[in-house]
Amino acid sequence: MNSTVDPSRVLIFDTTLRDGEQSPGIALNTQEKLEIAQQLARLGVDVIEAGFPITSPGDFEAVQAIARKVLEPAPPVIAALARTHVADIDAAWNAVRDAERPRIHTFISTSDIHIRYQLQTTREDVKGQARAAVAHAKQYLDDVEFSPMDATRADVEFTAEVCRIAIEEGATTINIPDTVGYTMPEEFTAYLKRLYALVPELSEVVLSVHCHDDLGLAVANSFAGLLAGARQVECAVNGIGERAGNASLEEIVMLLHTRAADVGLRTQVVTREIARTSRLVSRLTGYPVQPNKAVVGRNAFAHESGIHQDGVLKERTTYEIMDATTVGLEANSIVLGKHSGRHALQQALAELGFELSGQALNTAFRRFKEIADKKKQVTAMDLEALVTDELRGEITGYQLQWFDVEASSRRPPHATVGVVGPDGVEVTGSFTGDGPVDAIFRAINAATGSDARLREFRVDAVTGGQDALGETSVVLELGGVTGAGQGVSTDILEAAGRAYVRALSTAWRRRGIMAEAEAATAGAAVAVQTP
Ligand code: KIV
Ligand code: ZN
Repeated sequence: MNSTVDPSRVLIFDTTLRDGEQSPGIALNTQEKLEIAQQLARLGVDVIEAGFPITSPGDFEAVQAIARKVLEPAPPVIAALARTHVADIDAAWNAVRDAERPRIHTFISTSDIHIRYQLQTTREDVKGQARAAVAHAKQYLDDVEFSPMDATRADVEFTAEVCRIAIEEGATTINIPDTVGYTMPEEFTAYLKRLYALVPELSEVVLSVHCHDDLGLAVANSFAGLLAGARQVECAVNGIGERAGNASLEEIVMLLHTRAADVGLRTQVVTREIARTSRLVSRLTGYPVQPNKAVVGRNAFAHESGIHQDGVLKERTTYEIMDATTVGLEANSIVLGKHSGRHALQQALAELGFELSGQALNTAFRRFKEIADKKKQVTAMDLEALVTDELRGEITGYQLQWFDVEASSRRPPHATVGVVGPDGVEVTGSFTGDGPVDAIFRAINAATGSDARLREFRVDAVTGGQDALGETSVVLELGGVTGAGQGVSTDILEAAGRAYVRALSTAWRRRGIMAEAEAATAGAAVAVQTP
C-alpha cells in the first residue's frame, strides 16, 4: 500500500503530452498541448506530465504555459520530466515552478543493459546520481517522483537499493517502469511484492507503475501493479507513446470502473469525458484510433451479428458490459441546421466546451455555414470535428488555400494547389498522380518544395449517413522524419489535402525541434535522448 489517504483511490498520471508525444510523427505545439491539458483537467486526471523541458526550448515553453494556465475545474499536478543531470532538473523546475501543484519526475536506468551500454557507467555511479538528483529536486519542491528506468529487466535487489536511496532523499512517488514492455502480469506482481519486501519504506510513498505495450500487455501489467499495491498508474490517451505505446488511459479507467465491485479500486476520472478526450487527442496528434480499439474505437459498441443485435435490442446488457453513454459516446444531442445563427453556434460550442468569440467564432461560423449548406443537420460530433480542425488549421505551418483537380478514367488526374506558407505567402504547384488524392499530395510537395513520401492514408466518416463529414489521416515521411495530420471536410479531396499539409507541417516542425535539440546539446557530453 502507500500513503494516499483512501487505500482504494488510484491516481491517474497522464503522460499523453510527454511519452505520448514521443510517438513517431507527433509534434504538438504549445497551443495544441494547452488544449489537450485543459481537456485532461476536465477528464479529471490527477497528474499531467506536460513534457521534458530540457529537450528543446519548444518543450520548455509548452510545459511552462501549461503550468501557468489555470486548468478548470480543478488544477491537476503538473509534472516535468528530467534525467538526473542538474541542468535537466533546473529546466524542469523552471518550467513547472508557476504551477499550483508542481512535480519534478526524475529517472535513471537500473538495468545492467542500460547502465553498461547506454549510460556507460557503473551501478555505484547510478546510485550516486539518483541520490544527488532527488536531493537537488527537493531543494525546489516537495513533490518529487523517481523512476528506475528499465526496472523490469533490472536486478530487483539493485533496483530496491536505488529506490531506497530515492526515498531517503525525499522522493514522494516511486514509479516502476516496464520501459520496453517486456514483463508479464504475474512476473510484475512478484517483482513488486519483492520490492515491497526489500524496501518497507515504499509503503510510506506512492508506488506507481508505467507500462509499455510492446507485447500488448501494458494494461494487464498496470492492473497487476495495482493489485500488488501500486496506487498511481501512468498511462496515455488512446494508448499512444514510444513504439507500441503506453498503457491506455481509457482502458485502465474503464476496467476499474466496470469491475469496481470485484476489484474495489476507483479513480476520479469523469468517464463521460473519455470519448471526447480520445477524439481531441486523435485529431491534434493525427493518430487515428483503430476501429476495434477497446472503449473508444468506432466499433467498441457496435453489434454486427444478428444474434447480438437481437439480444441488445431486447436487453442492452446481454452483449454490453459498459454503457456507451458512460464513456461519453452518443452523449450529446445538439443539432444545428443551415438556418441556425452565430449565437446558436456559439452556445452549442460552449456546451461542447469550446468558448469561441471574435475572429475564431467568425471562422467557425463560416465553416459551419459551408457544411450546413451541404448537410441537412450538423451534429455535436460534426461541430467538434470542425472546431478542432480549425484550431489545427490556425496554428500549423502550411495552409491549403484552394485546389483544382481534373480527374478522368482516360488520362492521369492532374491537380493544382495553392498553399500559404508560414510566412503568409501563397505558393502554387501542379502535378499528375495515380489518382486525384495522389495528384493533390504531389502538387502540395511541388508547391512547398518538399520531398515527402506518403506512408499511410485513411478516410473515415465523422458521423453516419451519406452526407457525413469526411475525416482523413495522413502519415508521411520527410527526410527520415515522420509527420502525421488529419483533415475534416464534406469533400474528401479537401479533407485529404488539409491532412497532408498538416502532416507536412508536423514533419518540418519535428525537423526543427531535432535541430534545436542538437544545437542545445552541442558540446555537451551526453546528447538528450528521450526515454
Ligand atoms: O518508459 C520509461 O521508462 C519512461 C520513464 C521516463 C518513466 O518513460
Ligand atoms: Zn515510457
